[in-house]
Amino acid sequence: MPEIRFSQSVSARREQGALVVTIDNPPVNALSAHVRSGLMAALDHATDLPTITGLVITGAGSTFIGGADIKEFGKPPMEPMLPEVIDRIETFEKPVVCSVNGSALGGGCEVALACHGRIAGEKAAFGLPEVKLGIVPGAGGTQRLPRLIGTIAAIDLIGTGRTVNVSEAVALGLADGTAADPVAAALTLLRELGAKPLRRTGLMAVPTVDAAAVSAAEAKVLARARGQSAPVEAVRLVKAAGQVDLKQGLAEERCTFLRLRDSVESAALLHVFFAERAAGKIEGLETVSPRRIETVAVVGAGLMGAGIAVSALISGCRVIALEQTKEAAAGARDRIAETLDKTVRSGRMGQDGRDDCLARLQTTAEAADLATVDLVIEAVFDDLQVKMDLFRRLDGILAPGTILATNTSYLDPDVIAAATTDPTRVVGLHFFSPANVMRLVEVVDCAKTAPDVLASALAFVKRLGKLPVVCGVTEGFIGNRIFSAYRREAELMLEDGAVPDEIDAAFEAYGFPMGIFAVNDMAGLEIAWARRKRQAATRDPAARYVEIADRLCEAGRLGRKSGRGWYAYPNGERTVDPEVTAMIKAARAAKNITPRAITAEEIMGRLLKAMVDEGTALLAEGIAARPGDIDLVMINGYGFPAHKGGPMFTAQQGKDLKS
Ligand code: 3HC
Repeated sequence: MPEIRFSQSVSARREQGALVVTIDNPPVNALSAHVRSGLMAALDHATDLPTITGLVITGAGSTFIGGADIKEFGKPPMEPMLPEVIDRIETFEKPVVCSVNGSALGGGCEVALACHGRIAGEKAAFGLPEVKLGIVPGAGGTQRLPRLIGTIAAIDLIGTGRTVNVSEAVALGLADGTAADPVAAALTLLRELGAKPLRRTGLMAVPTVDAAAVSAAEAKVLARARGQSAPVEAVRLVKAAGQVDLKQGLAEERCTFLRLRDSVESAALLHVFFAERAAGKIEGLETVSPRRIETVAVVGAGLMGAGIAVSALISGCRVIALEQTKEAAAGARDRIAETLDKTVRSGRMGQDGRDDCLARLQTTAEAADLATVDLVIEAVFDDLQVKMDLFRRLDGILAPGTILATNTSYLDPDVIAAATTDPTRVVGLHFFSPANVMRLVEVVDCAKTAPDVLASALAFVKRLGKLPVVCGVTEGFIGNRIFSAYRREAELMLEDGAVPDEIDAAFEAYGFPMGIFAVNDMAGLEIAWARRKRQAATRDPAARYVEIADRLCEAGRLGRKSGRGWYAYPNGERTVDPEVTAMIKAARAAKNITPRAITAEEIMGRLLKAMVDEGTALLAEGIAARPGDIDLVMINGYGFPAHKGGPMFTAQQGKDLKS
């Protein structure tokens, strides 16, 4: 049968008496204006074909429909609008079944919800991730999903924006069935549906449910929202579905969608979405092929090394963990197995997956076992001499094509690379702890790193399912340099009149999960203390230096590990300690500083300014390539609230508002 074309991205063919409509709008089959008009034209065409049994809608490539075209947001609206297309599908006189070949997200899921049947291919996934973009579903998702799967499950899916796989979709009743050939199965379902009255989702009643269960589901979502408004609005709309008729519910949903689409929160989250996609793209690397990385060695399997090993195992790599002794190697295996067990307990992996990972793990105390690996990541003690000795030794053992990565946080990777005969194969991979959980990895492009080594490091980090951000060499790279800058500002404020608890409270009220001093206590104060001692000789004597942290360390207050730091922890509870308050007062008195009250607004203003000033310096020095990269580091490594877009975005917003 010849293909019938309805628009540049929508075509159809007649098959088994039905019209099989295919959306082909790469890269993700977003619902751009030409897709919407093409779908309308296909429905018009089907109306004129009295003999067809109905329509099957499917997507070309690996996605069903990736949602509304977010690149159209902020542009003048173009008819037909998505709710009209969806209404037309739902009220169509003949059955419409979707063959969900890949992800059905946002508007894509809403198209599926309006169809009279849904068949999931093996790679299908369903989700309404709008809240992750600071909006709510705008084409019926909040009204149809609870009708189909119930209010509780709808609150969970829409309020968190999480995506469900095929088996969960079938269990929830979101998909009617699954098939290796979903188009064939959709055609079969179409014939079956033709014999019965059509089940139109929008006309179904929302199943009644216990009010306490709804409140519990709502509370779960709101606890995660941390000041973000889209999840709150989404839950409100889902609950309304059980209380008002479809027309009213859809009108309220659309109105909320349009209001949130123009919000700063949505602009911030869209900025993060696009920044994440841009981060992996490095100018000059477009045509460079990465090296193949299948076997990875991790040297030093402490907490960090074990986390890296687990990530690599989960991604399907073979892993060799090198320790100094046989006993330590056995301990490494236990640590890695324990981390995998935790992953199983959290439900993120099955027992088979865990066993498969352990089967790909080798632990050893023999460096010679690393001779043929593709990549070595060192995660040994952060000491320059230790790392240089290790790299010198490995350089003599490894095959010439092996990439050598250092996980140093503060040392100069160029100096470490200089210990090898081939510094072009050295790159920095700065993971954040716990490495199997944290998404961010700073990929350090050292002075002599070869382009294909950098491309390989990027590809490897993406294979781990993590977010790579490339940066140049500087002490602390992007994240820790900015962290040092705002921690210094926080300490200056202690001298000026604030106490740790006030600064942490302002920081947490802004949306960070934990205050600066509480984070320091958790990480331990001794590493920064050692650095300050190292830097003492070269410090500018004219620059203001706050000694309070030194006094704490001298008093044995090294953070939570030592039982006390900036705070005391009786029964594990973070508590203001009068001893620290007295030390702060003494430090002010020693410098003749008269303390003044500092408002939460001033605290956050000064901390943000410190972040932005350091970020601006990193851009000027060429250490960071884009403001968005800095925002990603702060969001994914330091807990900056994503719905505020990061410090550089916030600063730009401030400038835009003034101009
Ligand atoms: N609209 C426009 N472009 C989109 C898009 C969308 N919905 N989703 C992804 N893209 C673009 C990306 O920006 C990227 O462009 P680039 O190549 O120029 O950088 C390209 O498609 C590929 O994206 P990914 O790198 O993310 O591709 P993956 O294969 O890794 O992932 C995906 C595919 C799972 C579909 C992922 O892109 C994704 O999660 N997209 C967003 C889905 C979403 O949030 N949909 C809801 C949109 S809002 C909505 O539908 C409102 C409705 O209720 C009215």
